[in-house]
Amino acid sequence: MKRIATILITILALAIFAVGCASGAVDSAAVAADASNESAAVAATDDSASMDAAANGMMELTLEELKQYDGKNGNPAYVAVDGIIYDMTNVAAWKNGDHNGYSAGNDLTDIIKNKSPHGVKNLEGVPIVGKIVDG
Ligand code: HEM
Repeated sequence: MKRIATILITILALAIFAVGCASGAVDSAAVAADASNESAAVAATDDSASMDAAANGMMELTLEELKQYDGKNGNPAYVAVDGIIYDMTNVAAWKNGDHNGYSAGNDLTDIIKNKSPHGVKNLEGVPIVGKIVDG
């Protein structure tokens, strides 16, 4: 009798442990799915992604609207590259929104890729604040 009770308790303990593991796995899968959605939100262009972008506090600006973010008169300095809007406001080399003859408030994809000595690698670590939308 005692042996049967021990076996039953062992089975019960194993069952509780198994349920605990399974729900833990579901939780971490949900977190992973969330994280991948966030990073895709800026780059993607379909409708559901733009809703994600808005939900994440990301800006959606037309090229016309981008112009006001020129880094002058207290405005932030935003620059678009490949449809992504980068915040240059606190980049020392972009003081007052100017950098080697180029100004914030513009799409400088062609310049950074084909004219700058550094290319897009210098954008690593620069904060992303949104994306360009058609207007
Ligand atoms: C012909 C155009 C360009 C030239 C000659 C140029 C040149 C340079 C040089 C020499 C530096 C490092 C020295 C410094 O602090 O001034 C620099 C830094 C930087 N550039 Fe450019 N650049 C050009 C265009 C651009 C564009 C279009 C972007 C962005 C769209 C950009 C983004 C940056 C950033 C973010 C840094 C700072 C990197 C850091 O401090 O970690 N540049 N650039």
